[in-house]
Amino acid sequence: MDIRYLADHPGHVPALARWHHAQWGHLYDDWTLDVAEAELRDHATRRVMPTTLIALEGDQLLGSVSLVEEDAPELRDHGDAWLASLYVRPEARGRGLGALLTRALVAFAADQGIERLWLFTPEHEHFYRQLGWRSDGTATLRGTPVHLMDILPA
Ligand SMILES: CC(C)(COP(=O)(O)OP(=O)(O)OC[C@H]1O[C@@H](n2cnc3c(N)ncnc32)[C@H](O)[C@@H]1OP(=O)(O)O)[C@@H](O)C(=O)NCCC(=O)NCCS
Repeated sequence: MDIRYLADHPGHVPALARWHHAQWGHLYDDWTLDVAEAELRDHATRRVMPTTLIALEGDQLLGSVSLVEEDAPELRDHGDAWLASLYVRPEARGRGLGALLTRALVAFAADQGIERLWLFTPEHEHFYRQLGWRSDGTATLRGTPVHLMDILPA
């Protein structure tokens, strides 16, 4: 299992965009598949925020996680560095890959000098808490209650 920059494997952008859009597309009115793909193409141009890490087994794409300045406009003032779009393909779940990607993103943020990292999650608070994230309040995004969480990467 390797964690790599999407920037080094841009050929995976279309598949990743399809997965992300199928998972989260219903939450955002204007976030079409084309927009999702354009965002990831942009991430694939750089190895600093905003960017995306991917998990590969050989050539096979298993998952991804992103580091972005803003994950929801409503939370713009809450934090300026977010773990976003953690995704593991269904066949690869439950064997630690989500934890591996999350830890890799936190380590990457530390390398970037990011002192505090946030995320929001509707239902995976327990998963992130096991990985050292702290609860940082709650919010409601488009009618969905979410947990806000943070971690100090350094
Ligand atoms: C959430 C998600 C990323 C987790 O990915 P994953 O690879 O299954 O995560 P892990 O395997 O690291 O951990 C998941 C659970 O499996 C358990 N687990 C980890 N390794 C395991 C193993 N070898 N055997 C059995 N269980 C294991 C973990 O303890 C964890 O348990 P928990 O639910 O009590 O926290 C994945 O389910 C996903 O992509 N979901 C859809 C998108 C999504 O909801 N993303 C999160 C947005 S906030």
